[in-house]
Amino acid sequence: MPTVLITGCDTGLGVEFARQYAAEGYRVFATCLDPDTSDATRAIKGDVRVLKLDVSDLSAIDALAGELRNEPIDILVSNAGLGKHHPPFGQTDFAYWHRIMDVNLIGPMKLAETFVEHVATSEMKVMAFVSSRMGSITLNMTGGSYAYRSSKAALNAVVKGLAIDLQPRHIIVLALHPGWAKTETGAHVDVDRSVSGMRAVIQRCSRHETGCFFAFNDTMLPW
Ligand SMILES: NC(=O)c1ccc[n+]([C@@H]2O[C@H](COP(=O)([O-])OP(=O)(O)OC[C@H]3O[C@@H](n4cnc5c(N)ncnc54)[C@H](OP(=O)(O)O)[C@@H]3O)[C@@H](O)[C@H]2O)c1
Repeated sequence: MPTVLITGCDTGLGVEFARQYAAEGYRVFATCLDPDTSDATRAIKGDVRVLKLDVSDLSAIDALAGELRNEPIDILVSNAGLGKHHPPFGQTDFAYWHRIMDVNLIGPMKLAETFVEHVATSEMKVMAFVSSRMGSITLNMTGGSYAYRSSKAALNAVVKGLAIDLQPRHIIVLALHPGWAKTETGAHVDVDRSVSGMRAVIQRCSRHETGCFFAFNDTMLPW
């Protein structure tokens, strides 16, 4: 069966990605900030290995890639992200902005560079980055959320670049929007529907769609 590595499996969509892939018989490497407290992930039935990873710790990404050397990874799901804090214009939290860039942008880029051989030696060869519609510059009609929006817009730029650079190695690179999923208060998309939709996009995308930005319902989004 294929192997998937998912980041940010302490809570939310990461746990659901791990649960759904495990239920289908995939080998799952579920990475968590704190495996000891991630009860949801440890309780998942199937071939799931829970591993510790802070995606903002670049040397930890190197160490994990070393630990998993010789393991082909069919699908790399870069899901870990920060986004709950949206101070309005005039109250920008610049320290938080640096932090969000480390987690939402630089960590995912480092993952791509460090795990490229693992993905290139697999059958499916997919890198999927959980972005957000809020990272779309075209769709920004409401302003605000400067740190979050810019981190995801920059992640989208990284996805496009990776898709071009990794095309010769037949690696498909995607940006995904989960919908407004019920890991957040007030949201309307069920978590299982969000994740099964993103998984369906990952499954059906061919090399012709590398470098594209899709929502969980398979709508293509503008950058
Ligand atoms: N839910 C939505 O409507 C929505 C919409 C658009 C995009 N997204 C994106 O979807 C992804 C998953 O979000 P979610 O909704 O499932 O929210 P979530 O429950 O907060 O999940 C994000 C996960 O990333 C973890 N994380 C934070 N910093 C990390 C780090 N440095 N290294 C590793 N893991 C880290 C969090 O751990 P802690 O809980 O311990 O901080 C959490 O488990 C994120 O990239 C988010 O931006 C979500």
